[in-house]
Amino acid sequence: MKIYFTAEEIAAAVERVASQINGYYPNDNDDKVLVVGVLKGATIFFADLVRKFDFPLEIDFVRAASYGDARVSSGTVALTKDVETPLEGRRVLIVEDMIDSGRSLKRLRDHFLSRGAAEVCIVVLIDKKTKRAVDVPVEWSALESEDLFLLGYGLDDGERGRNLPDLWVVD
Ligand code: IMP
Ligand code: MG
Repeated sequence: MKIYFTAEEIAAAVERVASQINGYYPNDNDDKVLVVGVLKGATIFFADLVRKFDFPLEIDFVRAASYGDARVSSGTVALTKDVETPLEGRRVLIVEDMIDSGRSLKRLRDHFLSRGAAEVCIVVLIDKKTKRAVDVPVEWSALESEDLFLLGYGLDDGERGRNLPDLWVVD
């Protein structure tokens, strides 16, 4: 395994993307942003990111499972845990670890809109530069990668490596 992004590079990228997002959301206590982390891969990114936000927010989580233990997308995305917050009229910000085919984020975005969210924006830690299988708008991304399999900083390879502080490429 080789390091692809160091913990320092990740921290700088998180800082950068957080300040872009801080510039987008208003300081409105009557319209708190619902920041939704996608379990499990986004947990570390989510924890670092929300602590840099300066607008009123609430947090919640969903679990979308698409990969199983394989390194290729299975094509079907199971929503195994939904948010517990009512979504009617809410501004939602989805925090995801990585976009690859786009299927997981498309599924989640459509789901939140169908549950009545007024707006859904997306931030990803890593935009994997692959051919998207489906089209989904991604408002912010912290880092970009080649079409490689990465682990660490929340991302796993068959549940291995989520706790590593750096991002590694598996070979
Ligand atoms: P998509 O639905 O194909 O966009 O896949 C996105 C999901 O697959 C992400 O939520 C990740 O959890 C997982 N994934 C995609 N690429 C990688 C990788 O390189 N390492 C670890 N997980 C990945
Ligand atoms: Mg994931």
